[in-house]
Amino acid sequence: MTVTRESLPAVEGGQPVRSQFLVFGAPLIGEEEIQEVVDTLRSGWIGFGPKSLRFEEEFAQYVRAKHGISVGSCTAGLHLALIASGVGPGDEVITTPLTFAATANVVEHVGARPVFVDVDRETQNIDPARIEAAITPRTRAIMPVHMAGRPCDMDAISDIADRHGLTVIEDAAHAVEAAWRGKKIGSISQFTVFSFYATKNLTTAEGGMITTNDDAAAERLRILRLHGISKDAWKRYSASGFTPYEAVEPGYKYNLTDLQSSLGLHQLRRIEANLTIRRRHWKAYDVGFADLPAVETPAPPRPEERHAGHLYTILLRPERLTIDRSQFIEALRAENIGSGIHFTPVHLHAYYRKRYGYRPGDFPNAEEIGSRTVSLPLSAKLTDQDVQDVIAAVRKVVTHYAR
Ligand SMILES: Cc1ncc(COP(=O)(O)O)c(C=O)c1O
Repeated sequence: MTVTRESLPAVEGGQPVRSQFLVFGAPLIGEEEIQEVVDTLRSGWIGFGPKSLRFEEEFAQYVRAKHGISVGSCTAGLHLALIASGVGPGDEVITTPLTFAATANVVEHVGARPVFVDVDRETQNIDPARIEAAITPRTRAIMPVHMAGRPCDMDAISDIADRHGLTVIEDAAHAVEAAWRGKKIGSISQFTVFSFYATKNLTTAEGGMITTNDDAAAERLRILRLHGISKDAWKRYSASGFTPYEAVEPGYKYNLTDLQSSLGLHQLRRIEANLTIRRRHWKAYDVGFADLPAVETPAPPRPEERHAGHLYTILLRPERLTIDRSQFIEALRAENIGSGIHFTPVHLHAYYRKRYGYRPGDFPNAEEIGSRTVSLPLSAKLTDQDVQDVIAAVRKVVTHYAR
């Protein structure tokens, strides 16, 4: 094959596939969001208030849950859900190693121990068949993560939890639109927590939502997320007049704001339209990579699942390439394509290795995925041309470095 300036990777001095850098996870922000933010800024009420309450209600309706409790982040929401579940020092919480550090960090925050269970190689989700072996008399909760937007087998997980009297707290950071056997994620377990971080399917820049069908738990979460003071304390500066309040427990400063909810309200209205756009991009990637021996594309959805299409993750086949994953990512960057890694398994992070003595080899499926995975841009903001650029860049790099 003759190498031209077009076919030579930019990292070797060739011409990049595109001239402008394509940011990984850039959100699609509409004029409606901008106008709503401006309206909030002009209203004189930018903190937690009426728009956040409306956002909670509409979000809960969308996921078919009884309650939505908005919070400053998914991390904050997971922390509160653990507290509301009564998880504390000496307890164990079963979760997946193939997740963001936050999922395990919050378990540490309440003084409990995260117990990892390896993932299924195909779904990349916690393998329900391995959960029971990890249950001890100290186990209090299971925290499944819907990896990349693919829902976990919630029948199997709920069944195990019921039989052992465990609470299920779903980390649905990737999974706003997901459903399992027709049941929306957010409506199934005692607690489900969503993320509205900048790169997520629905963004408020930073933010999150806990959903639950439990009235008493919802009431407590509303108090816990705002200093532990009584439920309507946010109204203390409103037109309804100052009402005395008191702390009923030492709560947290974990609330969302109306400024953020201004984004959320309109992001939610476009959630399904954005998913349709991402599904089109997903299909283009599947077709664009189908003949590349060095690239394994995501497993197709199972009939029981509605995939939220959050991350399009390819697995590189190192035996088919002369470069490693870091070099691949660097080569993509030189072509002006941003990418991500989801995830380096949590048990291999410095803190968890040191604290619990975890070592490579402990969770082989999570480690294999973690060492080979690359997430490509998949935002509704991408144009079809952007997607073609990503495909062209991946093809160029893996073809040049094919073994
Ligand atoms: C699986 C998972 N859980 C939790 C989080 C934490 O979300 P947040 O940034 O909203 O706290 C993330 C964030 O990226 C995530 O990917």
